[in-house]
Amino acid sequence: MASLMSLPCANLSPTTTKSSAGPRPLFPKQSRFIYSTNSAHRLQVSCASNGPETTETSQGKVDRRNMLLGIGGLYGAASLISAPGASANPVQAPELDKCSTATNLNTGEKLDINCCPPLVQKITDYRIPPVIRTKIRPSAHRVSQEYIFKYNTAIDRMKRLPADDPRNFTQQANIHCAYCNGAYDQPGQGGLDLQVHNSWLFFPFHRWYLFFYERILGKLINDPSFALPFWNWDNPKGMTIPPMFDDPKAAIYDEKRNQANRPPAVVDLGLTGSTDPLQVVSNNLTIMYTEMIRGNSTATDFMGQPYIEGTPVNPGPGASERGSHTSVHAWVGDPRQPSGEDLGNFYSAGRDPLFYCHHGNVDRMWTLWQYYLPNNKVPEKKITDPDFLNASFLFYDENAQLVRVYVRDSLSNLAMGYDYDRVDLPWIDYRPPPQTAQARVTRSFTSAEKAETVFPITLDRIIRVMVPKTTKGKADEVLVIENITVDTTKFLKFDVFLNDEDDDVGALDKAAYIGTYAQIPHKTPNKTATTSIRLKLTDAFEDMDLADDEDVLITLVPRHQGPGVTIGGIKIVENPAPATAASSPSS
Ligand code: C2O
Repeated sequence: MASLMSLPCANLSPTTTKSSAGPRPLFPKQSRFIYSTNSAHRLQVSCASNGPETTETSQGKVDRRNMLLGIGGLYGAASLISAPGASANPVQAPELDKCSTATNLNTGEKLDINCCPPLVQKITDYRIPPVIRTKIRPSAHRVSQEYIFKYNTAIDRMKRLPADDPRNFTQQANIHCAYCNGAYDQPGQGGLDLQVHNSWLFFPFHRWYLFFYERILGKLINDPSFALPFWNWDNPKGMTIPPMFDDPKAAIYDEKRNQANRPPAVVDLGLTGSTDPLQVVSNNLTIMYTEMIRGNSTATDFMGQPYIEGTPVNPGPGASERGSHTSVHAWVGDPRQPSGEDLGNFYSAGRDPLFYCHHGNVDRMWTLWQYYLPNNKVPEKKITDPDFLNASFLFYDENAQLVRVYVRDSLSNLAMGYDYDRVDLPWIDYRPPPQTAQARVTRSFTSAEKAETVFPITLDRIIRVMVPKTTKGKADEVLVIENITVDTTKFLKFDVFLNDEDDDVGALDKAAYIGTYAQIPHKTPNKTATTSIRLKLTDAFEDMDLADDEDVLITLVPRHQGPGVTIGGIKIVENPAPATAASSPSS
């Protein structure tokens, strides 16, 4: 066991991905894999099918298909972006033959790595195999020695696949680079980048990514029931890097991590820099409560803003993506590296096996949000816009077949054949205690400027501003922070507080904390992007007894150094009633 786990991690050099002279494959023939002919009918995935699915990558634009089904309008929070054109323009899978070199986010220079996958001509529309037995993804802190051995064996074999095998470890890591660092354009959109972050594509893209990654690992160890672990960072018992990833001899180890944050350091989902681990745990639970329950009014508040064909990138990340997800990336990334590699930068994140474990938990949050949070008061948890459902991506499956997948087929983890081990959700009741007395005191001596006069403003220090409420006495309101212009080459984060003059900015576990914006460096034209976020105020007003006030004090606390974020405006709007938002004249 020890000798296997200490095998060298072959061929990680990012510049060799086009070479065919990789190491000898461990499994030269596919027939060596476990799937027997008996079970082929259920494991075969690239089945020929009835529709207009198969296309050539060199054809340029693929045919639109079935796009005109009930154009229900841009349901949800589409109002935050100006959607160009009509609906029925889902983002299409990239053209692999037009993949170009990725760009270094910090310098804007072309990277010396080629993230592009091997090119094949035939694409098949993917059909999820019938689920015979649901795979259960385990909590990474609770796995057995036997599981750790299997997992390392699978990753080791992935590293030893030929460099040009699309299932090779580096090829798999490059999927993230290609979809996030400008290697692909949106087909037929005049060079607009394709970007799977900062929008409603975030959850579906990563779900499909892990789905195939898991199947490839299972195939490499002849165990189709193999399930990826998830890093249970939302539970105090899981708030360190899972120990199995911290063994330098293991195939799942990665040296490029922040050495100060190796176990037993407690993951800091707020990146407040607090050195008190108990404060950090309490912050973490509050952040989870806020981004899962208290802070969202609509499905897109949680999932991310609409991103359709022709949209410049960055319509806006959802609460989960810009919150705990981004913080874990930044917290693990290595400050000794030029750009926070590996986890701290999108182009390199997939090179750390911990990435897939982190995203297991991110994906679990989507599952919990959809099915287990009746108390979060979001009336409609689903996005039904066809531009969401019909967006597509390309992946290589476990048989190295290039397949096209659709968002619409990723909405149910159970239909995809996997679930998560049940663990406690200690944040589910972690609503911060009411803070009414303090809120009133705060209100009485503030001398903050008014929202009408202060914007736009560069957020390079703590900023306090008075914002009028919409209707006195009405509590169902949403805070919109708009025209957030960001330098996309930087890690940036700010937290938002309501009627809070407490200068202990290390503490997020209070009613006054209402949400966060944060980003990992990513590539955009001109290194800039403009985005917006929405934070639900309903519960916060109740917790702070502010329903009858005419205006409130909003405090923005940056967690990064220096400039990089300009805020265009802050306003409070009424949350549209669900019935109005979901209906549309054309439906
Ligand atoms: Cu594609 Cu966590 O990033």
